[in-house]
Amino acid sequence: MEKLEQIYEGKAKKVFATSDPELLIVEYKDDATAFNGKKRGSIAGKGRINNRMSNALMRRLASSGVPTHLVRELSERETLVKKVKIVPLEVIVRNISAGSFCKRYGFPEGVRFEKPTVEYSYKNDELNDPLIVPSHVLAMKLASPEELRTIEDYALRVDEVLSAFWLDCGVTLVDFKLEFGRLPDGTIILADEISPDTCRLWDVKTGEKLDKDRFRLDLGGVEDAYREIMARLEAAENA
Ligand code: TMP
Repeated sequence: MEKLEQIYEGKAKKVFATSDPELLIVEYKDDATAFNGKKRGSIAGKGRINNRMSNALMRRLASSGVPTHLVRELSERETLVKKVKIVPLEVIVRNISAGSFCKRYGFPEGVRFEKPTVEYSYKNDELNDPLIVPSHVLAMKLASPEELRTIEDYALRVDEVLSAFWLDCGVTLVDFKLEFGRLPDGTIILADEISPDTCRLWDVKTGEKLDKDRFRLDLGGVEDAYREIMARLEAAENA
């Protein structure tokens, strides 16, 4: 399958049309941004790592009953995916307090919740992806009630499957962000990526951050953290 014209360039990926109108090619870049693009940089090797990691995790999710856009990995940085209309929501699941949760509520970092939380942000860069309550999702018809139920069910299943998998890697899945899309027949499937850009991943023993927070918070060792988390995943995959 070959790349035709570029149809979109985002902060971390480019998207290309293919000869099949139902399929796209995603190309992962090393570019990194934070705070809605206000902080910019590059993380050497990130594109390759995120591509392979996202595909490995989506394969696992597909076999656990969460349908995904993944068709097949084409190269180190490129993947063939099903074309969807993205539901304009960032779906965030949290197991442990961190990030904007702590900032918004003045709550300490690192507290494990009795059960995971699910929240939504409205995907809109001009508005800075504001938090949105489900009734407003329905009011604006961003998703139907049934779609929202499906999305929440899938998000919690993703949390169960990936929390267990990362634990086998000696990693705590703190929180993560998902995006879903609609196939032409309306079926909801998991899209976008699951990577250290979109998850908080902490070493179980030391609590060391092995994700994009190293870049967001200027903690240093960014490339090493991406390499380390990928090595953990590969070791578990090959075990
Ligand atoms: P937050 O604590 O900043 O709201 O982030 C929650 C999770 O979502 C965290 O794992 C990082 C991820 N995330 C993204 O993937 N994209 C974003 O633009 C933001 C703000 C967070």
